[in-house]
Amino acid sequence: DKGNHRHFMQKEIFEQPVVVAQTLQSYIRSVEQKVSLPQMDFELSSIDRVTIIACGTASYVGMIGKYWIEQLARVPVEVDVASEYRYRDPVLAPGMLGVVVSQSGETADTLAALRHMKAGGVTTAGIINVPTSSMAREVDLLLPTHAGPEIGVASTKAFTCQLAVMAALAVNLARAKGKLTAQEESEIVRHLIEAPAAINEALGHDAEIEAMAHTIAQARDVLYLGRGPDYALALEGALKLKEISYIHAEGYAAGEMKHGPIALIDEAVPIIVIAPSGPLFEKTVSNMQEVRARGGKVVLISDAQGLAEAGEGCLATIEMPKVHPLIAPLVYAVPVQLLAYHVAVAKGTDVDQPRNLAKSVTVE
Ligand code: F6R
Repeated sequence: DKGNHRHFMQKEIFEQPVVVAQTLQSYIRSVEQKVSLPQMDFELSSIDRVTIIACGTASYVGMIGKYWIEQLARVPVEVDVASEYRYRDPVLAPGMLGVVVSQSGETADTLAALRHMKAGGVTTAGIINVPTSSMAREVDLLLPTHAGPEIGVASTKAFTCQLAVMAALAVNLARAKGKLTAQEESEIVRHLIEAPAAINEALGHDAEIEAMAHTIAQARDVLYLGRGPDYALALEGALKLKEISYIHAEGYAAGEMKHGPIALIDEAVPIIVIAPSGPLFEKTVSNMQEVRARGGKVVLISDAQGLAEAGEGCLATIEMPKVHPLIAPLVYAVPVQLLAYHVAVAKGTDVDQPRNLAKSVTVE
């Protein structure tokens, strides 16, 4: 049932404050100000390497997880898409935790990668939305997302719930590795608890994004730029736009622009820049100026401080609330999803059932 929404995708985007809160609730012990994981029969402290495997949107959760886990727990992380991982004879070692991320829990390549890791004696965990799925049954440690059924083919609420669980995993690993004080943890808990309200605030920009979508809908190509976790969001934005609006889009690490893609820039190419204020902001803005100098039309997604510093001269700006870096990807995912959604609606495509795509890819 779509309720009073036009599409399942729209309904699912708007459900995010509730389902992210629901998901966080099962990982946060608010009285103790701690993040907890379900019971496991291995020692998290013995993990000295993490490999995250997924497909599509779920693989971007892996990329963001890499930043978080390496930064908080100081454990090296490798991320790969399942279809590459399973055929490249990866090195499996004791002390490794293999993490799969999947909404359906049935994606053929991810399931095969999981089985490959298990057969190699690797301890596995799965961030999975469907609790009865094959992956949910086969992982050593099930880390459920509580997004509820996701009907729209394009993943939205599963993505932000996966991020919430990935954050919980990073924090637990950091504590187990002795890299996090109780005070640091309680501060993180406080920020995580604020995430649903910040997501809700981001949703408040819906009408504004709908208005600018008509311009983006005219484009033949769109570029998305970001650094750090926002690079993963750039990839997510481009994927979402491609799959539902059929506009060609690319996500790039902002610093890679001048190594090739800048050749594509002219007045006809909108560039979506995802850049919360913070240590990477100036760097991304300087890439943005290079693009603008070549006539590129920029949509800047940032917070009030970022927009005050760099918003002038942009085609459009979208203001996000000021949030802690750990929850920023959950919040900045929203405008990226809404933009793809409204562009697709403006183009009149079948938003919930895009051509050539299936919700669950159970063949390789
Ligand atoms: C994109 C999208 C796909 C899925 C991918 C993995 O919007 O939905 O890229 O993320 O097919 O699916 P799951 O998470 O079910 O393994």
